[in-house]
Amino acid sequence: MRVYKCSSQDIQEIARVHCETFTGYFLSNLGTKVVEKYYHSYLNDENIFEIVRKDNQIVGVNLVVKPYNNIRENFIRSNKPLLIYSIVKGLITFKRPVWSKVFNLFKSVLVFSSDASENADNCKPYFILSIFVSEMFRGQGVAEMLLESCERQLKIMDEQEYKLTVRKENLSAIRFYDKMLFKIDRDKGKEIVMKKEL
Ligand SMILES: CC(C)(COP(=O)(O)OP(=O)(O)OC[C@H]1O[C@@H](n2cnc3c(N)ncnc32)[C@H](O)[C@@H]1OP(=O)(O)O)[C@@H](O)C(=O)NCCC(=O)NCCS
Repeated sequence: MRVYKCSSQDIQEIARVHCETFTGYFLSNLGTKVVEKYYHSYLNDENIFEIVRKDNQIVGVNLVVKPYNNIRENFIRSNKPLLIYSIVKGLITFKRPVWSKVFNLFKSVLVFSSDASENADNCKPYFILSIFVSEMFRGQGVAEMLLESCERQLKIMDEQEYKLTVRKENLSAIRFYDKMLFKIDRDKGKEIVMKKEL
């Protein structure tokens, strides 16, 4: 097993593994085409986007980004028709994560609760946007390899820390981050922000 820099040829496979892994999440429920476009938008030299291959198959992915928001906004802006189509399709086929996301978006617009601290949080240090390992290959040190590789690069770039957000219910991921020496930085209700000094 080895860590490789992600290239555009890997995106289709990454999107497939993402959708298999994050079944209950909003993005996966918009379909693999949207997920492919999403990951494509993060392919640039500023981000650390790496994969682990075993027998020519992608078994692990890690995407560490800076800055988070501009890329996400650009992704939304340049894929509006596809996103609207996929969201409407998700709503009419009663996909729960899609309904839940749309409901939360409306709620935040209605109560004007734009979270300024969240934006600040995403803009400063590098941030793990997505890390996942195929179910069959978990517990074999794949994610650890990916984090070690990205930490080596962050240190060369003179970064002092990096962060991530994880759902409180995702106990296995929290245990993994704990093992990798991340500390709880902030409580965000259903999620926590974790931070690691480099
Ligand atoms: C979290 C995840 C990326 C870990 O990947 P992994 O390749 O299985 O982790 P590793 O094998 O590299 O684990 C490294 C260390 O963390 C520990 N660890 C990993 N998963 C663990 C778990 N579920 N419980 C306890 N410890 C765990 C391992 O024991 C290992 O320590 P060791 O070498 O002393 O045994 C993987 O479980 C995953 O893809 N989960 C689904 C996607 C996800 O939730 N991503 C995070 C979103 S925030």
